Amino acid sequence: MNQTFKQHTLAVVALVLTLLAAALVMLDPLSASGQVRRWNPRRVPPDTVFVGDQACLDCHKKFASFNHSGMAMAMEQVGESKILTENPQLTMRVGAYSYQIKRDGKQSFYSVTDGKDTITLPILYALGQGKMGQTYVLQHEGKFYESLVSFYAEPKGLDFTIGAPRMEPRSLLDAVGRVLPPNEVSNCFSCHALGAVVGSQLRLDKFTHGIRCESCHGPGGKHVEAVKAGEPGSTGIFDPGLLSGDELTQQFCASCHRGADEFALLKSMEINNVRFQPYRIFHSKCYSDDRKISCTACHNPHEPLRENAPAYYDKRCLECHTLKSQTAKAAGGAGATAGSSCPVAEKDCTSCHMPKIEVKAAHFNFTDHYIRIVRPGEKFPN
Ligand code: HEC
Ligand code: HEC
Ligand code: HEC
Ligand code: HEC
Ligand code: HEC
Ligand code: HEC
Ligand code: HEC
Repeated sequence: MNQTFKQHTLAVVALVLTLLAAALVMLDPLSASGQVRRWNPRRVPPDTVFVGDQACLDCHKKFASFNHSGMAMAMEQVGESKILTENPQLTMRVGAYSYQIKRDGKQSFYSVTDGKDTITLPILYALGQGKMGQTYVLQHEGKFYESLVSFYAEPKGLDFTIGAPRMEPRSLLDAVGRVLPPNEVSNCFSCHALGAVVGSQLRLDKFTHGIRCESCHGPGGKHVEAVKAGEPGSTGIFDPGLLSGDELTQQFCASCHRGADEFALLKSMEINNVRFQPYRIFHSKCYSDDRKISCTACHNPHEPLRENAPAYYDKRCLECHTLKSQTAKAAGGAGATAGSSCPVAEKDCTSCHMPKIEVKAAHFNFTDHYIRIVRPGEKFPN
C-alpha cells in the first residue's frame, strides 16, 4: 500500500468517525444539562420502561385533572368500561344479520348471527371515550378485527363504524368486521395507549390504556430518581413547552392528530379531513409559528376539553385581534394600530369562524380548525 493511499484512507476513516460522532450527538436525546430534547409519542425506542402516572402525580398533584380528559379515556378498560356497564345490552340489525353486545360480569361479548350460525367473541379492547364513538377490537382465529358496528353516544346505541361500508355484509365472517393487518393494529394502539408499541414491537401483554403522562413526556424513571436525588426538576424529562409553536402543532400533537407529514393523503379525504386539526389550522390566515395559535394556546392537554365555552376561546382570539369598539375608542379617531377586528360581532368568535361540521355517518359535528370567514353556501374548503 503506498503512502498517499494510506493517508487518503485515514482521512476517509477520520471523516466517517467524525460524522458518526456527530450523528450520535444528534441521536442522544439528553443534553448536557440532563434535559431531554426530543420525544416522539409514537416512536418509542426499544427497551423503554414507563413508570406510570401515579409516580408523576405523587409530586405533580395539580395534574390529576388529566384523568378526566378525553385523552386519558382514549381507550377504556373493558372490565371497568363506563359505556359497556351503562349499556348492558346493545342491539342492531343489518339486513339478515343481528348484532348484540351483552354485559356479563366484568366482560362484554360481541355477537353476530345470520339466524343459522352465530359468532360470539369477547370484547378485548374498547377504543375511544365514546363522545364521537367507541369501536371494539376483537380476535377471531388468530386475527384482529375492528368491529363492524360501534357505540355512539348520540343517539345512544350501535351504528356502522366510521369508514366501514354501510351495506349488508356478504358473509357471517364479514359481518364481524374488518380484519386489521398487524401494522394497523400497532397504529391504533400507538395513538390510543401507552407502551403497547415499543421499538416497533406490539406488546399487548403489557401496556396502559389511554394517553398517559409519559405518552407526551417520555419515560420518567430518570426524572423521578434525579429529582429525589436533589437534581434540578428539568432533568431526565421531555418538556414539549420547549418546542416552537409550529413544531408543537405540526409535529408533536400532529403525531397523533395528523398534520404536515400527511397533507397529500389528508387532502384526498375531502370533508373527512375535518377531524385532523393540525391539517385544518395550517390553512388559516391566523396560523403561524406563534405559540398564541398553537394547539396549547386553546387546549391545556392536562385538563378536559372546554366545551360550549365561547368566552374562554374569545380570549384566545383577542390575543391577536381587537374588538371594533375598543379599537375605535383607543384610537380616539386616529388610525387603529392593533390586529384586525370583526365588523360583525364582539363575542362568541368560534361560533362563526370555527363552524361545527357534520360528517355523514359520524354522529358527531367536528369543530373546523380552519379559522376563516365562512360565507353562506360555500363549499367545504378542502
Ligand atoms: C419526586 C417528585 C417528582 C416526581 C415523582 C415527578 N416529578 Fe416532574 N418535576 C418535579 C420537580 C420538583 C420539577 C421542577 C419544578 C416544576 O416544574 O414543578 C419537575 C418538573 C417536571 C417537568 C418540567 C420539566 C422542565 O423542563 O421544566 C415535567 C414535564 C415533569 N416534571 C414531568 C413529570 C412526569 C411525566 C413525571 C412522572 C413520570 C414526573 N414529572 C414525576 C418533581 C417530580
Ligand atoms: C399519543 C397520541 C396523542 C398525542 C401525542 C396527542 N393526542 Fe390529543 N387525542 C388523542 C386521542 C386518541 C384522542 C381521542 C380521545 C377520545 O375521544 O377517545 C385525543 C383527543 C384530544 C382532544 C379532545 C378531547 C375531548 O374530550 O374531546 C384534545 C383537545 C386534544 N386531544 C388535544 C391534544 C393536544 C393539544 C396535543 C398536543 C399537546 C395532543 N392532543 C397530543 C391522542 C393524542
Ligand atoms: C394516528 C393516530 C390514530 C390512529 C392510528 C387511530 N386513532 Fe382513533 N383517534 C385518534 C385521535 C387523535 C382521535 C380524536 C380526534 C378526532 O378524531 O377528532 C381518535 C378518535 C377515535 C375514536 C372516537 C373517540 C371518541 O371521542 O368517541 C374512535 C372510536 C377511534 N379513534 C378508534 C380507533 C381505532 C379502532 C383505530 C385503529 C383501527 C384507531 N382509532 C386508530 C388517533 C388515532
Ligand atoms: C397530550 C400530551 C400531554 C400529556 C398526556 C401530558 N402532558 Fe404535561 N405537558 C404537555 C405540554 C404540551 C406541556 C407544555 C405546556 C406549554 O408550554 O404550553 C406540558 C407541560 C408539563 C409540565 C411543565 C409545565 C408546568 O405547567 O408545570 C409538567 C410538570 C407536566 N406537563 C406534567 C404532566 C403530568 C404529571 C402528566 C400526566 C398526569 C402530563 N403532564 C400529561 C403535554 C402533555
Ligand atoms: C384558536 C383556538 C383553538 C386552537 C388553536 C385549537 N383548537 Fe381545538 N378546539 C377549539 C374549539 C373552540 C373546540 C370546540 C370546543 C367545544 O366543543 O365547544 C375545539 C375542539 C377540539 C377537539 C375536539 C373535537 C372537535 O372536533 O370538536 C380536538 C380533538 C381538538 N380541538 C384538537 C386540537 C388540536 C390537536 C389543535 C392543534 C392543531 C387544536 N385543537 C387547536 C379551539 C382551538
Ligand atoms: C397568533 C395570532 C392569531 C390568533 C390567536 C387568531 N388569529 Fe385570526 N388572524 C391572524 C392573522 C395574522 C390574520 C390575517 C391578517 C388579519 O386579518 O389580521 C388573521 C385573520 C383572521 C380572519 C380573516 C380570515 C380570512 O379568511 O380573511 C378571521 C375571520 C380570524 N382571523 C378570526 C380569528 C378567530 C375567530 C380567532 C380565535 C378563534 C383567531 N382569529 C385567532 C392572527 C391570529
Ligand atoms: C355572527 C357571526 C360572527 C361572529 C360571532 C364573529 N364574527 Fe368575525 N366575521 C363574521 C363575518 C360574516 C365576517 C366577514 C365580514 C365581511 O367581510 O363582510 C367577519 C370578519 C372577521 C374578520 C376579518 C376582518 C377583516 O378586516 O378582514 C376577523 C379578523 C374576525 N371576523 C374576527 C372575529 C373575532 C375575533 C370574533 C370574536 C370577538 C368574531 N370575529 C366574531 C362573522 C362573525
